[in-house]
Amino acid sequence: ENPTQNLTINGRNFTVNAEPNMPVLWVLRDILGLTGTKYGCGSGLCGACTIHVDGKPMRGCLTSVKQVSGKNITTIEGLEAEKLKQAWEKHNVPQCGYCQAGQLMSAAALLKTTPKPTDAQINDAMSGNICRCGTYPRIKAAIIDAAE
Ligand code: FES
Repeated sequence: ENPTQNLTINGRNFTVNAEPNMPVLWVLRDILGLTGTKYGCGSGLCGACTIHVDGKPMRGCLTSVKQVSGKNITTIEGLEAEKLKQAWEKHNVPQCGYCQAGQLMSAAALLKTTPKPTDAQINDAMSGNICRCGTYPRIKAAIIDAAE
C-alpha cells in the first residue's frame, strides 16, 4: 500500500496514494486525470511538464510528489493569466500545441515576477521550454503583448 500524499492543486485539496518519489507529473496525469500538463522527455530537458509550485515554475517530471506535498501547485487547468492567454490566441501561437501548456506556465511565472521583462529576461525565462514547431517568435510576441 502506497502512503497517502496530501496535495493542493489549483486551490483544491486532493489525497492520493503514491510512492513518495513518484514524479508529480505522473500523479497529475495518471492518478488525477489532469492531462493538460504534458509528458515530453521525462528527464527535465523540454519543459512540457512545467507547473507552478508556490508560484515558481518547476518541472513535473523531475519533482517528486513528496517535494510538493503541502505546497500550492498550479497546473495549466488552474492558470489565471487571462491577458497572457488572450495574447496567445491573438498571436496564434500554437502549431501542434504539445509544448504550449509548459510554455504558458513559464511565461506566466515570468510575468508574475517581472511584469515588464526585457528581451534577455524573456529569453532566459523561456530557454528551458522547447518547441519542435519553432513557435518561438510568436511566443515572444505574445509575452511582449501581454506585458504591455
Ligand atoms: Fe519534463 Fe520534458 S517532460 S522536462
